[in-house]
Amino acid sequence: MELPEARTTTTTLEPPRTSLRWDAGTIVTIDQRALPQETRELRLETVEAVIEAIRTLAIRGAVAIGLAGALGTALSAHRHRAGESLDRVAVRADAERLIAARPTAVNLEWAVRRALSRLDEGPEAVLAEAEAMLAEDAAVNTAATERAAELVDALSPGRRLRLLTHCNTGALATGAVGTALGAILRLADQGRVHEVLVDETRPLLQGSRLTAWELARAGVPYRVCPDSAAAGAMAGGLIDCVLVGADRIAANGDTANKVGTYGLAVAAARHGIPFIVVAPESTWDHTLADGTGITLEERPAAEVTSVAGRDCAPPRARAYNPAFDVTPAELITAIVTERRVVRPRSAVTAGSIARLIEDFPDHPETGVTFRELSGVYARPGVLAGMADRVHELFAGAYDGVLAVEARGFVLGAALASRAGVPLVLARKPGKLPGPVHSADYALEYGTDRLELRKGALEPGERVLCVDDVLATGGTLAAAARLVRDSGAEVAGLAVVLELTGLGGRDRLTGHRLAALCEVPA
Ligand code: MRU
Repeated sequence: MELPEARTTTTTLEPPRTSLRWDAGTIVTIDQRALPQETRELRLETVEAVIEAIRTLAIRGAVAIGLAGALGTALSAHRHRAGESLDRVAVRADAERLIAARPTAVNLEWAVRRALSRLDEGPEAVLAEAEAMLAEDAAVNTAATERAAELVDALSPGRRLRLLTHCNTGALATGAVGTALGAILRLADQGRVHEVLVDETRPLLQGSRLTAWELARAGVPYRVCPDSAAAGAMAGGLIDCVLVGADRIAANGDTANKVGTYGLAVAAARHGIPFIVVAPESTWDHTLADGTGITLEERPAAEVTSVAGRDCAPPRARAYNPAFDVTPAELITAIVTERRVVRPRSAVTAGSIARLIEDFPDHPETGVTFRELSGVYARPGVLAGMADRVHELFAGAYDGVLAVEARGFVLGAALASRAGVPLVLARKPGKLPGPVHSADYALEYGTDRLELRKGALEPGERVLCVDDVLATGGTLAAAARLVRDSGAEVAGLAVVLELTGLGGRDRLTGHRLAALCEVPA
């Protein structure tokens, strides 16, 4: 890869504690273009040099370019000081040029403006603000990675994890340990990581050059894989969880990150694999309702049409080379920041489900109110969110899902697909061929029977029974009987809606029961 050179001094460094620091009027960092072959110190003495370093990815990663922008603003303030006077206009112009160096990561503008807010107090105040941001980033990284590691642990309890990450989100990309990669290092420290698959991250290879370098230094087992191998790795059961960073997150959770992230999220959703974004709060852009307004940087064709300085496409080949893409919120399991865990894919609260349910009095007969759930299933992302929620509640405790005809099939199928476990259907009488177990039960209106094919469940299998509505508890009690008659175990019971006041929950005591929302009967 050939990238323009910034002004550099070459030395061999000890492992850096942070990727950026201020040294008597100079910004000191590592030249990320030279890694992994060479750990080269980069000393930036002018705003031009800082802009060039950001543009050419000598300094890169949303958080790191923000910190570099803030320090660059301090550099400008120091350069434009003449005795007691300060050329504020020149500093503001430099700040705008710093912000324009790369358009996608919101952290750059956020950090430059924050440093600039101290301009009236003089250059030392601007520098103090930039250095405060550096120090804060360490605390932010610690809090976000703690939360993310806990979440990953809860989503795949007990087993040594196979993780996949994209681009670089470690110490090089931040002011401290990193975001997504920081969480991976924390999990590794806890002995939870079996292996990390590192997407090479075409075309500038931030994965194979930088993430692999950081993992190797930390002694964490990893393999570099072509970006195009990631979906196959998921299909082959090599991945428990995907962790990535972010450059800009819109108010609804749509997330811009390194190009290729969207494809990973699609593949992860296809295989029911958690897809987690780790980023500081400063990466949210609440001025954008959704990801359609995010500017995606396009980079030079040569980055794609050449490899290590040699052409790999015909002369004058044109290229499509966006540096980022946008992952829709509904494909993201969780966005973890230093303050919170936002769950776009499961942003389904009891209240939001209840609002989507329609009541039909006197249906199917007088005195019965029918709860119509079509509105719940019609809303994109809600079904996946409900499956995520149930899976979290029972993670590690079930090996299969038994869904009850008819509307239990909907959540049951989504859950089985989410968890990657077999789905078995309990059906109304006469539908199933061959020998069946059967269980009669009383309904709010009349009686009914459920049947299950003999041999459909393995003896000892831990089965989660799923239905749409819990009223008197008769249906789920029958489903639980079918599980036991098959020699399997009831791992728990889950429903979309519990109608309270009909004694259903009491009838099911002895079982773990989860209702995603409750309304009085
Ligand atoms: O073009 P880059 O290397 O700056 O892209 C970096 C990423 O996409 C990172 O995932 C993101 O900035 C988060 S870094 C903490």
